[in-house]
Order: sequence, then structure tokens, then C-alpha cells
Amino acid sequence: MADDFKVTPWEVTGDIDYEVLMQRFGTTPIDDALMKRIAKYGEIHPMLKRGIFYTHRDFGKLLDDYDKGNKFFLYTGRGPSGHTHLGHIMPWIFNKWVQDVFEADMLFQMTDDEKFLFKDLTLKDTRALAYENALDFVALGFDPEKTKIILDTENIKELYPIALKVAKKVTFSTAKAVFGFDNSTNIGSIFFTTIQAAPAFLPSERAGKQIPCLIPCGIDQDPHFRVARDAAPGLNYPKPTMLYCKMFPGLGGGDKMSSSDEMATIYTTDSPKNVKKKVGRAFTGGCVSVEEQRVKGGNPEVCAVFKYNFYLFEKDDKKVNDLVDKCKKGEILCGECKQMLTEKINVFLEEHQAKREEAKEVVDSMTFDGFKW
Ligand code: TRP
Repeated sequence: MADDFKVTPWEVTGDIDYEVLMQRFGTTPIDDALMKRIAKYGEIHPMLKRGIFYTHRDFGKLLDDYDKGNKFFLYTGRGPSGHTHLGHIMPWIFNKWVQDVFEADMLFQMTDDEKFLFKDLTLKDTRALAYENALDFVALGFDPEKTKIILDTENIKELYPIALKVAKKVTFSTAKAVFGFDNSTNIGSIFFTTIQAAPAFLPSERAGKQIPCLIPCGIDQDPHFRVARDAAPGLNYPKPTMLYCKMFPGLGGGDKMSSSDEMATIYTTDSPKNVKKKVGRAFTGGCVSVEEQRVKGGNPEVCAVFKYNFYLFEKDDKKVNDLVDKCKKGEILCGECKQMLTEKINVFLEEHQAKREEAKEVVDSMTFDGFKW
């Protein structure tokens, strides 16, 4: 059944139908007209062109403001519950593109509090993971002059007054309806959404006037930002603008890469050997035998290896189309495709890992209000 799936900030299950999800959440598709408009600012990012970032809230209005000289800042984040994998960095790569094109300031929130509340982790664990994750974020090349990393338990003094204002506008029944909480939910979790809302309003709070905010992130975060957007007008904050992407698929054929399946997950610190092993075991759209595949061809639509090319690793549209063609005609087999992808991932990771090392020198200078890790 097309709508037999679930997407919340804490759980993604079933086969996601992204059209149905957009309708459920009530977001707007990024249509051709909007795409053409975006193209005026810079070369369209492949993630937009390919419909990976595919839906939004108020993006046109944000551009109207921008055209009038009213600059926006970027905000996105990470819940430090484990090591960084490719699914995490995908939207960050997109954020970096937006920062470059619009010369935007950026806030990156690390919710060590959230992962303490929702997972079986100590605050010490989530803080250590936040540092590890921050290295990956910094490695992507965000402008150190324009980018600040918030760690909730460190920067709470700044976040708390805003969170309180939001909290006063959100009832328990809304929290239950939006997030599915029940009587067994710990009370920290119920309050948490206000902390995730806070960075969206922080520059406005500091400036004493409305500063527009753009949040590019996974669509699973929409429940938080629906709540934030509803609260905003009553607090004289601007509603944050949203740009949402699809979930980065797992190597096992699932709709979302998840650390609960280690072998179907590629971490930013994986060795070339590990990557080879993991891609080697990936789910593909191939047939059971080589002979059959030569005749019938494969099915790129369900193939994790193809999805990796499409989402991140093959930027050339022509090459993507060639892959589809050759696969469907049985001209290229899964082994060959896996080998090519392994190489691409390893080239990417080699460079990323070097930058991640360099990030250790910079990450201290990028903390919000200068907190120390
Ligand atoms: N809750 C997010 C997560 O679990 C982390 C996060 C905090 C975030 N603020 C954000 C994600 C803003 C996107 C945009 O990963």
C-alpha cells in the first residue's frame, strides 16, 4: 500500500511514497517555475535538479525578501547519536552550496540533549559524538567566518529564553498529535521541540527585528518546524522557510540509511576495504543469474548502487542516464557497477578524511559564543 509508511523525526519505517508524504505534511512541491527562479542565483545544484530536495515551505517568499536586500541566514543541525554516515552529510553538502550562492551566515545545531533524551546514551556520549560529527560538518568547507556551531548543553543560556517563549505557545495536545507522544514519554522529550525551534529565531531575538531563516534538511524534521512555524507569528518571529530532501537510502535497499544496520551504512571514517565490502553486499536491481540479466536487464529503480550514484556520487547527468540505459539493456552487470561505485566513494572519502583531520584545527574557532569542546 502506498501510504503504509511512517516518517517522524525519530523513526522512519516502510517504503516512503514521497508524494504522499508531501501531501500528509502539507508542503509545496518545487515546481519548474521555482526552479527557474533559483537558477538565476547560481547553477542549480544536482540535488535540486534530480528532485532530491523536492519540497518546501515559503521558499518563493524568502527569495522575494532576498531580492529586496533582506538577507536570510541558514540553519540546520545534527542529532549526535552515532558516527557520521553518508546520509547525514548529504543535506550538509547542499547547505554549503546555499551558503556559497547566497553568501549566507549559518547556524549548525548539535542536539546532544535530544539524543540523551531519546536514546540510551549518556550526556558524555552525546557530547563526544557531537565533536566527531562536527568534524565532518567542518570538513565540508563551510566559511569559518560565517558559520557557528551550537551545542545545546553549552549554548543553552542563549537558547532557553527563546525555547520558553515557544513552549508557552505549544500545548501538550499539539505535541501529542504532532509527535505521537503518550503518557510513557519522558517530559524532556516533550519540551525538546522548543530547543530545536530556538536557533531559527536566535538572530531575530539578538537583532530585535525579524531576520529570515532558511532551513534545508531531511523531510523527517518537518514536524518540529510545523510547530515552530505555528508559534512564530505570536512571538513576532518570522516563520522559518523550509527546503526538504528525501532520506538518503541504505545500501540494503531500504529507504533510509540507518546506523542500526552497520553493513548497509557507510561512515565517513570507513576504510577503502570496508567500503568495498559494504558495497559488495549492497542490494541491486540485478537478476539471479548473469545469463538472465544479459537478456532481461536490471532494474535501476530499486538498486541501491544506482541510488548512490544518483544521490551523491555521479554529478554528470549524461553518465547517470547512460548507467540507466546500459543496466536496462543488460550491457552492464552489478559487479562492474559496484566496483565503479566503490572507487567513487573511496575517492570521496580519502579527500573527506584529510579535510576532517584539518578540521580539528578549525572546529574550536567555529563554536557559538566560543564554547570549548
Ligand atoms: N533533530 C535533528 C536530528 O536528529 C537535529 C537537528 C537539530 C536538526 N536542529 C536541526 C536537523 C535543524 C535539521 C534542521 O538529526
